[in-house]
Amino acid sequence: MTTAAAEPAAPPDPLQQHFDDTIARDHRVEPRDWMPEGYRRTLVRQIAQHAHSEIIGMQPEGDWITRAPSLRRKAILFAKVQDEAGHGLYLYSAAETLGADRADLTRRLIEGRQKYSSIFNYPADTFADVGVIGWFVDGAAICNQVPLCRSSYGPYARAMVRVCKEESFHQRQGYELLLTMMRGTEGQRAMVQNAVDRWWWPSLMMFGPPDGDSPNSAQSTAWKIKRHSNDELRQRFVDMTVPQAERLGVTLPDPELRWNEERGSHDFGTPDWTELQRVISGDGPRNAERVSRRRAAHEEGTWVREAAAAHAAKQAERREEAATSRSVACPR
Ligand SMILES: [Fe+2]
Ligand SMILES: [Fe+2]
Repeated sequence: MTTAAAEPAAPPDPLQQHFDDTIARDHRVEPRDWMPEGYRRTLVRQIAQHAHSEIIGMQPEGDWITRAPSLRRKAILFAKVQDEAGHGLYLYSAAETLGADRADLTRRLIEGRQKYSSIFNYPADTFADVGVIGWFVDGAAICNQVPLCRSSYGPYARAMVRVCKEESFHQRQGYELLLTMMRGTEGQRAMVQNAVDRWWWPSLMMFGPPDGDSPNSAQSTAWKIKRHSNDELRQRFVDMTVPQAERLGVTLPDPELRWNEERGSHDFGTPDWTELQRVISGDGPRNAERVSRRRAAHEEGTWVREAAAAHAAKQAERREEAATSRSVACPR
């Protein structure tokens, strides 16, 4: 009796195998390593959106630098907004290690082809908003970014270590500003409560849609780019923030918010996901303004980029001339 010879199993692709082992062992993938195209593309998209968020995120609070009520508050806010610029620059550099082109990423942002965090499309109406942004938005950023320090892509993970240290300062300066205002007048306390009411729900939306509606999450988790789900991180943020709100003496605007003894966590209401969709798709209160200001800043900076490029070219030319004259002077 003859049997059909079984097809020999294809040998595993050694490059893919090495990548899979790196992920399985919790080692880091570095720029020189082979990686699947989908992994590279996912990271470029995530890091670019993160970089854009840092840069656009300078705008809501940046508006308050010239109107800060004291020199001390101005210096703190200036340092904070400058940090956000630095975060954007680290992240664009991390994207470049994956072969992305920084000018191309900026073009995608100002042409509305690449997104940034929905939260920065809301206005900062009063100086209390500066405090609440630090407390909520930088607080949410910490919840999101601390796990990214263990992300599988080395340059991204390492950038996050420094970014998180600075985010921690951002959160504290916001909370300290609010503590000061709450010790002030009735009007100042009302201003803080009003800012809390406006920023609470958009801050919960920063973690993205509920897990069931987050199609890319499973693959990012398998690649260990993402370590926790949107809903887990949202829960962590709520649990961290509730006692801080009590200490501050403000009310979080959610009638369903209460401690659940059984779960050892807070139950809370459902954000308005249609609002998130609207803001993400460009119809938030400040989308058009944020992007047009970024575009104007980019255009106004053209001469700086051209001057820097011309200077770099001149330096390179001089180095080359010096090298040529040395080799002529000392023939072998
Ligand atoms: Fe930041
Ligand atoms: Fe920050």
